[in-house]
This record gives sequence, C-alpha cells and structure tokens, in this order.
Amino acid sequence: MQRKIVTTEDGSKTLFIPGMNEQYHSVNGALTESEYVYIDKGYRHNQSPKPVVLEIGFGTGLNALLTAIEAENEKRKTTYISLEKYPIEQTEIEGLNYGSLISKHAEELFAALHTCEWNLKTQISPYFDLLKLKTDLTQFSFDTIPSVDVIYFDAFGPDKQPEMWNEEIFRKLFRSCNPGANLVTYSAKGEIRRRMERSGYTSELLPGPPGKRQMLRATRP
Ligand SMILES: C[S@@+](CC[C@H](N)C(=O)[O-])C[C@H]1O[C@@H](n2cnc3c(N)ncnc32)[C@H](O)[C@@H]1O
Repeated sequence: MQRKIVTTEDGSKTLFIPGMNEQYHSVNGALTESEYVYIDKGYRHNQSPKPVVLEIGFGTGLNALLTAIEAENEKRKTTYISLEKYPIEQTEIEGLNYGSLISKHAEELFAALHTCEWNLKTQISPYFDLLKLKTDLTQFSFDTIPSVDVIYFDAFGPDKQPEMWNEEIFRKLFRSCNPGANLVTYSAKGEIRRRMERSGYTSELLPGPPGKRQMLRATRP
C-alpha cells in the first residue's frame, strides 16, 4: 500500500493513501481531531480508574501518544491495546511530527511506542502499558484480550472499508465491553449509529471536531 506524508490544517502531519483516496486523520487538523474525538470525548469522559483502551487501527500512533500523555497527566494507570493489520514503515514514523509539536518528552514516548515489539505487552511509562497486536480486525478473537472500558473506533471510512463497520463487528465489540464502557468514532453516519444501537449500545451524536458537524459516542449500559 503506497502512502504519502501530508500536512494538515493545524500543522500536524498525517498519512494519505492515494490508491484509496483516504487519509489517516482529518485534513482540518490531525492532532486537533485526535485530541477532541478520542481523548476528550472518549478517554476523559470515561471515569474508569484503571481503563483498558482498545483502538481499532494503530496507524501513526497519534491516538496512543496522546493517551499516554493524558494518562500521565491524570495519573491513571492505563492499558492500551491496539489492532493493526498494516503497520507503517520506519521512514514514515520519522516523517511524522507529533512529538516535536508537543514536547521533548512526547518525542521520547512516540519513539518508545513505535519501537516496542508487536504482540508483546510493554510498559511505555509508569502509567501506560501498550499491547500492539498485528492482526486483522475482521478475524480477531476478542476472547484473547481483557474486557475494555474505552474503544477508539478509528478505521478508514465506512465507504472505503465497509467490512470494518458491519454489525457483527459492533456486536463483538459490545460483548468485549465492561458496563459503562464508551466507544467513540469520528463517523456520524445514521446507519453506523443504528448498527451500534442494534448491537446493544446506547448512542449520542456530539458536536464534531473542526470541519465535521458531528461525531458518535456509544455506551454499553
Ligand atoms: C484511520 S487509520 C488509523 C489512524 C490511527 N488511529 C492513528 O492515530 O494514526 C485506520 C487504520 O486501520 C488499519 N487497518 C485497515 N484494515 C485493518 C484491518 N482489517 N484490521 C486492523 N487494522 C486495519 C489501517 O492500516 C490504518 O492504520
């Protein structure tokens, strides 16, 4: 899969796949979108004292980086599990500028979460354990991981990868959630919301990040 590094509105970089005409983040600001959708509406909203976060699509590692920083700020011991079928290359990692936009410490965290081994739980910092699983979501057995408190559903768009957004996947995700768990995603599509609700979640439309009117947050009652 051929990818190009591009700069988004807030100065942070992201990856673009010309063959798919799809980006890893919003052109209106990768860092801004990630901070708003996943950290603010997902991680901070969920009150679990020791949250297990499950991410669909590790990609650039931006969501993981921002969560590691927030976990340290809040002193909340966090286990972060991320599924990824197509890990990015070292040259791409080096071309991303998230660490340098944030702080020296963020640069170190970013390097650590990319250099740690796949499929091996690793302590990245006193408040952040990372388990990157090189796997295909559509084949993944959720019995192999602990129950989760927060899901970052960050797959490519439903029009680009419909197999990632089907009801069977949401039903599996629902069963892997603790009561009170939240799932957040940048998509606000009515059909996606209905699939989540049919899977057992309650859902709400929230104001979206810059350039998007709305986003979705689902909750396991
Ligand atoms: C929108 S990007 C994720 C962005 C990422 N969360 C970040 O912070 O950079 C979608 C990700 O899903 C991954 N992906 C695509 N198909 C997949 C599959 N079947 N199973 C797991 N991951 C997949 C892609 O390789 C890509 O990294």
